[in-house]
Amino acid sequence: MAQGIYTFPEGFLWGTATAAHHVEGNMSNSWSHWENMETGKVFENHKHGRAVEWWAGRWQEDFDRMQYLGQNTHRLSVEWSRIQPGPDRIDEDAIRQYQDMLDGLHKRGIEPMVTLHHFTNPMWLEDEGGWLENSVVERFARWTEIAVDAFGDRINLWCTFNEPMVYAVQAYLVGMFYPGSNNPWKMYKCAELLLRAHAASYDVIKSKYPGALVGVAKHMLELNPLSPAVINGPPIRLVRSIFNNAFNKAMITGELDFPLRKKVVIPDLAGKYDYAGLNFYQRYNGGFNLTSPGTYFLKQVPEPDAPYSPPMWGEIFPQGLYKQIMQMWKLFRKPIYITETGTPDQGDEVRRWYIARAVHSTWRAINENIPVRGIYYWTLLDNFEWTAGYNPEFRFGLYATNFETQERTLRQSGALYREFALVNGLSSDMVEQYTPQLMEKLFPGEPGQQEVPL
Ligand code: BGC
Repeated sequence: MAQGIYTFPEGFLWGTATAAHHVEGNMSNSWSHWENMETGKVFENHKHGRAVEWWAGRWQEDFDRMQYLGQNTHRLSVEWSRIQPGPDRIDEDAIRQYQDMLDGLHKRGIEPMVTLHHFTNPMWLEDEGGWLENSVVERFARWTEIAVDAFGDRINLWCTFNEPMVYAVQAYLVGMFYPGSNNPWKMYKCAELLLRAHAASYDVIKSKYPGALVGVAKHMLELNPLSPAVINGPPIRLVRSIFNNAFNKAMITGELDFPLRKKVVIPDLAGKYDYAGLNFYQRYNGGFNLTSPGTYFLKQVPEPDAPYSPPMWGEIFPQGLYKQIMQMWKLFRKPIYITETGTPDQGDEVRRWYIARAVHSTWRAINENIPVRGIYYWTLLDNFEWTAGYNPEFRFGLYATNFETQERTLRQSGALYREFALVNGLSSDMVEQYTPQLMEKLFPGEPGQQEVPL
C-alpha cells in the first residue's frame, strides 16, 4: 500500500461541538419543559437531568480533555434561558460562569465558536408565542445584545442559529420538539422569523465587533431519489427544496421561496454571513413515506455495504461531506466551517472509519482550493441527545461517558482524532493503525504511484 500524509493548511481549526442542553445539566427551558410533559416523543421519556455536569463545574476537566485532544477550537452554545430568565431579568452569575468558561477555553489555546440558539428557548418566550410571533425578532436581537456585551471581547466566531430548518421542522411540522405542532404553515412562519432574527442579530454583533465572523450552522442532507424517478423524484425534490435550499438561498438573495407559498422578501437579510457553516451527517436514498415524519417523510434504502445506523438516522455517509462542501462553496463563496459532523456508534467501530472519511473528504475540498477553515466533530463526549434522550444507540462521543459515575473514557476514535489535530493531517500510518479497511481507498497503489482517490 502507498504511504503518505494529507496535510491541512497551517492554522486549520480542529474542534468538537456541544450544545448547552446536552452538557450543562439542570436546565429550565423549552426542552426541559418538553421532557417533563412526557409526551413519549423523547425516548422512554428520558430527562436530561445532570447531563454531563458542566454547569456544576465539570467543564474544567472536559476542557482539559479538549486540550489533550489537541483541539484549537470548540463550538459551544450559551443558554438564553439561563442568562435572561425573564424578559426584564439578567442573571449576572450565569454571565460570570460563561465568562469563566470562555476564559477557560482561551487559556487552553482553544478558540471558541459560540452559538446563540441551539434548539432551546426560555419558556417565557414560548409563552409569548415563541417562533411564530413577530416580536421574537426583537427579543432575539436583545438577547444577542446581552450576549455581545457580556462576551463579545472573548469571541470572534459567532453562530446565530444551529440548524434552523431542523428546528422549524421538528418544532412545527413533525412535532418532535416543543411545542409539538404539525402544521407546515407554522413551519414556514418559523423559518421566516429565524431569518429575520438572524439578520437582526448579525447587525447587533457587527455594530459592536465589525471584525467578528457571523454565520449559521446549516444542516444539509444528501438526498437521492430511487427509481422510478417519476414517483420518487418529486418528493425528494420537495424535501431538498424545503429542508436544504430555501433557507440558504434566502440568506443570499433576501427572498424566502418555499413550495406552495408566496415568496417573502426579507429586508436587510441578503448577504449577511461571513462564513458558511455546514452540519453534515447522513444521506437518504429513497422516496416518500407518509408514515415516517421522524425521517422527514422519507423512506430510506441504504447501500448494501453501508454501516449499521440506528432507526430514524438515515445512512451514515461521511464521504458525502465533499459534495456538500462544494455545494456550499458554490452558493455562498465564503470561508466554510464544518460546524458539525459525526456519527452515533456506541461500539466505536464505525466512528474511526467515519472520522477518517470525513476528514479525508474535507481535505479533498481544500486540495481544490476551497477555503475550509475548520472542522468540529459532534461531539466531545456522550451526552443527552434530544429525542433520543440517553438511548445507548445514540452515543456520539470521542469519550464514552458513564452516566452513573460521570467517568469519561477516551475511545479509539478520540485517539485518532487527536492524531489528526496534533499532526494537522491524516497519514497512512494513522489509517493503518485505526481503520485499516480504509487503506485501499485512501492510500491506493504502490509508493510513488499514488493518485488522489475519489
Ligand atoms: C444537532 C445536534 C445533535 C446532533 C446529533 C445535529 O443535528 O445540531 O444538536 O445532537 O445532530 O443528532
